[in-house]
Amino acid sequence: MAKLDKNFLWGGALAANQFEGGYDQGGKGLSVHDVMTAGEHGKAREITETIEEDKFYPNHDGIDFYNRYKEDIALFGEMGLKCLRTSIAWTRIFPNGDEAEPNEEGLQFYDNIIDELLKYNIEPVLTLSHFEMPLHLAREYGGFRNRKVVDYFVRFAETVFNRYKDKVKYWMTFNEINNQMDTSNPIFLWTNSGVTLAEDEDPEEVLYQVAHNELIASALAVSKGKEINPDFIIGNMISHVPIYPYSCNPNDIMEAEIANRLRFFFPDVQVRGYYPGYALKMFEKNGYDIKWQEGDDEILKNGTVEYIAFSYYMSTVVKHDEVTSVEDNVVNGGLPNSVKNPYIKESQWGWAIDPVGLRYTLNVLYNRYQLPLFIVENGFGTTDEFKEDGTIDDQERIDYLREHIKASIQAVDEDGVDLMGYTPWGIIDIVSFTTGEMKKRYGLIHVDRDNEGNGTLKRTKKNSFYWFNNVIKTNGEEL
Ligand code: BG6
Repeated sequence: MAKLDKNFLWGGALAANQFEGGYDQGGKGLSVHDVMTAGEHGKAREITETIEEDKFYPNHDGIDFYNRYKEDIALFGEMGLKCLRTSIAWTRIFPNGDEAEPNEEGLQFYDNIIDELLKYNIEPVLTLSHFEMPLHLAREYGGFRNRKVVDYFVRFAETVFNRYKDKVKYWMTFNEINNQMDTSNPIFLWTNSGVTLAEDEDPEEVLYQVAHNELIASALAVSKGKEINPDFIIGNMISHVPIYPYSCNPNDIMEAEIANRLRFFFPDVQVRGYYPGYALKMFEKNGYDIKWQEGDDEILKNGTVEYIAFSYYMSTVVKHDEVTSVEDNVVNGGLPNSVKNPYIKESQWGWAIDPVGLRYTLNVLYNRYQLPLFIVENGFGTTDEFKEDGTIDDQERIDYLREHIKASIQAVDEDGVDLMGYTPWGIIDIVSFTTGEMKKRYGLIHVDRDNEGNGTLKRTKKNSFYWFNNVIKTNGEEL
């Protein structure tokens, strides 16, 4: 018997701000990404006040999908993708976020994309906001600090739900909504929620207010979506970097249990429809005054998600008596007591490579929530070299994907997890989120562009392209 369901959603994953480019085309407004410069491993991206002439903003051009979507979607079709997870740039639909009427040209652009996907029988899977917010809402309203932004988000969601209701079935609200739990790096709160912190503010208190507003926005969007089309399948989307205890010392076990609340807070609310006890206790103990409006309980209860989409790249470890610097732990979610896992190798960017951690994650999430799961990001960011014959032998990437797919199949076949699909991240090379680089490549299709924005943008199939095509054809039987 086949191990995976015949309708398993094999696909690829992308995000509007990282690949579309065309940042000022088609009436698009500026988004929070359009003022983010390029950084590199160990050097954070800068958020500038305005667009400064002497700085490079890699998301402005992305890989120019905006003007090349036909060519790219044809390649996705050739690869055999059954779905494509991408996002809608909020700023194409509402350029400033607070307009009364949407921008027709932006809506038409996504009609074109969706129609082109459907032409190749590729099911669109859409994220409403993948680290995406109009700059105007961030600067003038304070992003999701401000409850008005909830209304603007819901209007945006309603607009696109109505427009694409007969063509799109799978939706998710906010990408990696829990990413912002790491307040050590300003780009997370900025991209998730359009928020910057004042020096005298307690980041945690701000974060939970913002989180509440965003959870309300997500729940309202789910309810609206189901009203517009009851056949919609709407999920949340979280980043899951499991936190292991360093040892069987009970103090390490407890440390990991507490640290994992950072991972579970958002999905606990989005799946169950109410706040978990550990969060309420923490608000009480810290004296946090999180503003709720009348009716918020009902909104959360009525807007629970139907599946959990998540990204998985790596795992991390905490040790109760370790104190490490924030700089050392940027990739570990800023955990103050994380240590390297002695059993695991890391990528060039310091991301721990741990396929068993994916099987573990699938078990943990499924057993905690009993909802279908969807792996909507997983992949290996590394540099690529062309061989003399013009091909790209990306065996390391193939090995990474193979081991992670194997672990996922085990979770389905041996552990009984309900898994909807698997969409590797950055199916075509795109701009890296954390560093803004191009050389950190995830793609199965190479794009000729470098960190400074030079290159012809030519697309070349890597060896992984052909390998993944066969994986899809055999529904994961041949890896
Ligand atoms: C996830 C994001 O955090 O990881 C993506 O949802 C991002 O937007 C991906 O690109 C990989 O991160 P990076 O920094 O290697 O691009």
